[in-house]
Amino acid sequence: MPPYIFAEIEQLKLEKKKQGIDLIPLGIGDHDLPTPELILNELVEQAKIPENQNYPTSMGEEFFRESVARWHKVRFGLDLDLNREVTNVLGGKEGVANIARAFINPRDIVLCPNPGYPVYENGATKLCDGNPYVMPLKKENNFLPDIEAISTKILKKAKMMYLNYPNNPTGAIAPIEYLKKVVDYAEDYNFFIVYDNPYSEFTFDDYVAPSLLQINRDHIEINSASKIFCMTGFRCGWAVGNEIIISGLRKIKSQIDSGCPIFIQKAVAKGLNEYKSEKRPEIVEKSMKIYEKRRDILIKGLNDMGWETDKPQATFYIWTQIPEGEVNSMEFVKKLINVGVVLTPGIGFGEYGEGFVRIALTQPIERIREALERIEKVIK
Ligand SMILES: Cc1ncc(COP(=O)(O)O)c(C=O)c1O
Repeated sequence: MPPYIFAEIEQLKLEKKKQGIDLIPLGIGDHDLPTPELILNELVEQAKIPENQNYPTSMGEEFFRESVARWHKVRFGLDLDLNREVTNVLGGKEGVANIARAFINPRDIVLCPNPGYPVYENGATKLCDGNPYVMPLKKENNFLPDIEAISTKILKKAKMMYLNYPNNPTGAIAPIEYLKKVVDYAEDYNFFIVYDNPYSEFTFDDYVAPSLLQINRDHIEINSASKIFCMTGFRCGWAVGNEIIISGLRKIKSQIDSGCPIFIQKAVAKGLNEYKSEKRPEIVEKSMKIYEKRRDILIKGLNDMGWETDKPQATFYIWTQIPEGEVNSMEFVKKLINVGVVLTPGIGFGEYGEGFVRIALTQPIERIREALERIEKVIK
């Protein structure tokens, strides 16, 4: 396994804190906004009920799978069988990692975007002795893998592909035509897609993200309450789609975990049931409007100081090239930590992330303005 790239940054942060430097954390993709009260109230009530305190099932309770299936119906128009095509996961991360345990044998090829969520290459593929095949996400390709550039030999050998749009870390979105093309390739070369979609609701400027399953049901999709309902710490998500793949994931999970606490499943179901159409309900809309405003302020601030940065239409990440003259992403991030601004170096998401940094919109507007002032002093 590769060394933990962020350890050095963590150490630096500790040192700066000790020196009394005020840190503005724009590194980690974790909400600063609270979980909606409606969900918290449900959680507290449900936790008091004795039968909700027992072991859950790892595939998720029936009421939970029902609410997940219902959500996919109102949100994407999909009809899912809650008994065969839906399973609970302990947050998307667990699903992303354990799907490899279910299907990847030593030396199997797994197509992984890079820069990308590090679990695809490491926690999933490498821990199963699989072979990650890196698909570069380049700016000139709008941060979409150039699937035509992958050799036939690799495509024939590939068993699984991870795909994630809206994308972490680039904030890119995938046009439906592009997704259709990838699905055609998957069919032609007989691999399946794990569509990692935790930012499906995290969109701006009236953009509505699709589900891959709207194109084709041969694949699976993973999502979770973490980003939708500001519930990262609750560890509750779901995987849906092709029943053979879902049954493989369920089988692995039943041997490993005992499921997400029932009262948490109840709370998430309460949130999902707020959806009455594809339109985000108020409890989600409220936080997305806040992030949209922060995005606009941060983007304007960076461009005004001459740091050219594109505006993403989704996620709470800004992905931008380090200013001219900077050596590399890690050195640049270290420089900014000296003034108390913490960003994530692109290299942390793989070799094709070098030359970029990721800025998370996870601080209030006043703190973002303060961060901009400090950044300007460093890059001018
Ligand atoms: C691309 C991507 N996939 C999956 C996850 C996992 O999220 P969780 O396990 O909280 O559902 C994250 C979290 O940041 C992510 O960015």
